[in-house]
Amino acid sequence: MSWKPGDRRRDTTSMIRVDQAGEFGATRIYAGQLAVMGHRTPAARKIAGMALQEERHRAFFDRMIAERGVRPTVLQPFWDVAGFALGAVTAAIGPDAAMACTAAVETEIDKHYADQLVELGGDDPELSEAIAEFQAEELEHRDTALASGAENAFGYPVLSAAIRLGCRVAIATAKRI
Ligand SMILES: [Fe+2]
Ligand SMILES: [Fe+2]
Repeated sequence: MSWKPGDRRRDTTSMIRVDQAGEFGATRIYAGQLAVMGHRTPAARKIAGMALQEERHRAFFDRMIAERGVRPTVLQPFWDVAGFALGAVTAAIGPDAAMACTAAVETEIDKHYADQLVELGGDDPELSEAIAEFQAEELEHRDTALASGAENAFGYPVLSAAIRLGCRVAIATAKRI
């Protein structure tokens, strides 16, 4: 495998697209959860704190999209609705299911960011430094969710597996379109 002009550019284009789609999706999941839960319960307050960090992640990738001329995913309107629906449905089941959703999503996002960091190596410090920082925060979200009763959710193994599968499909899709 030899490097060709344009290779790295093409790789980071796809990375930025999928990351922006994912962070956008994360903000929509939390918006759906908070729409159902309100902002007053302890679980809702934890979710609101995580949602603020997701807004920061999303703002960074929005900026990357603009500065580097990356085409955003054409599925943005879909992730808008699907993310909100996933958040609203899990929150309607209950606070434990809402936390199970976060634990499942962040487990996949952690792996996704870890893969990207390996792929990037030292080629794009601006991108990899941000990804490393966000990855650490996603792990905090996962741990917060697990400490807040995620695993007590009814049908946790099935719920978790379904959401993780959904994340993997979303990641594979957003890389291309
Ligand atoms: Fe995030
Ligand atoms: Fe997160």
